[in-house]
Amino acid sequence: MGSDDSSIRNMPSFVRQRSGQPQKPLLVLEDVYKYFRRDIPTLRGVNLSVERGEFVFVTGPSGAGKSTLLQLVYRAHDVDGGRILFSGRDISRLTDRSIPFLRRNLGIVFQDFKVVPHWTVFENVSVSLEILGTSQKLMRSRVGEALDRVGLAGRGNERVGHLSGGEQQRVAIARAIVTDPALLLADEPTGNLDPALAIDILTLFEEINEAGTTVIFATHDHSLLSSSPHRLIVIDEGRVYEATRGLRAWSARTQMSA
Ligand SMILES: Nc1ncnc2c1ncn2[C@@H]1O[C@H](COP(=O)(O)OP(=O)(O)O)[C@@H](O)[C@H]1O
Ligand SMILES: [Mg+2]
Repeated sequence: MGSDDSSIRNMPSFVRQRSGQPQKPLLVLEDVYKYFRRDIPTLRGVNLSVERGEFVFVTGPSGAGKSTLLQLVYRAHDVDGGRILFSGRDISRLTDRSIPFLRRNLGIVFQDFKVVPHWTVFENVSVSLEILGTSQKLMRSRVGEALDRVGLAGRGNERVGHLSGGEQQRVAIARAIVTDPALLLADEPTGNLDPALAIDILTLFEEINEAGTTVIFATHDHSLLSSSPHRLIVIDEGRVYEATRGLRAWSARTQMSA
């Protein structure tokens, strides 16, 4: 019973806040630097604050640092300067014991799906709960719920390798949301899909966001950016800009230089 779903939800996890307290932003980047080369930082002094419930697009040309930014948030790399606060906690200072809290509260979706083709849909999604020690019974209900949310209800026994690209990405999204994370990161999740499917997947992320999950969606697809009026962050030469109003100007400039 100890690691059952009810205990997961009721745990004093650091992302769930008591009512009556002022809401901290879910994610804060303070003067963040990342160097892959000694001379030129990939990210130089990035400041960014994301509130709970927001949907944020991150864009910028290929090589701008979109993936790097997301990778720092899920701790695939450490920052070389500055800090990243997740629900007020400096993620570089998390102890080994609290890293599972970060993992549970972060869902990640990639461009190339990263599903296991010879596993079933159920196996691909339940793996996120298995690592948290969830019981079989709760796993079945949570996976069923997640598959329902992504439009794959009743498809749990199918081999993922037999599904279409759009369906495989839905499996990856179900795997990312089945733990009910506070933050969902998506790194070019529509990059391998046809334009019509890309819109469907964007819509699915928007539905997940409307149900309460904060979403950071990295893409360089201008048709997606212009189809939805979300907050827009542009990475350009290692710096981050708010571009909600400047999208048209930014877009014209990058298309001219492409
Ligand atoms: N692991 C790495 N090692 C060395 N350089 C990297 C690594 N990851 C990214 N870079 C470099 O950092 C820059 C930004 O890359 P990336 O974050 O993948 O950009 P984007 O996702 O916007 O296309 C690129 O110049 C890339 O070559
Ligand atoms: Mg990238």
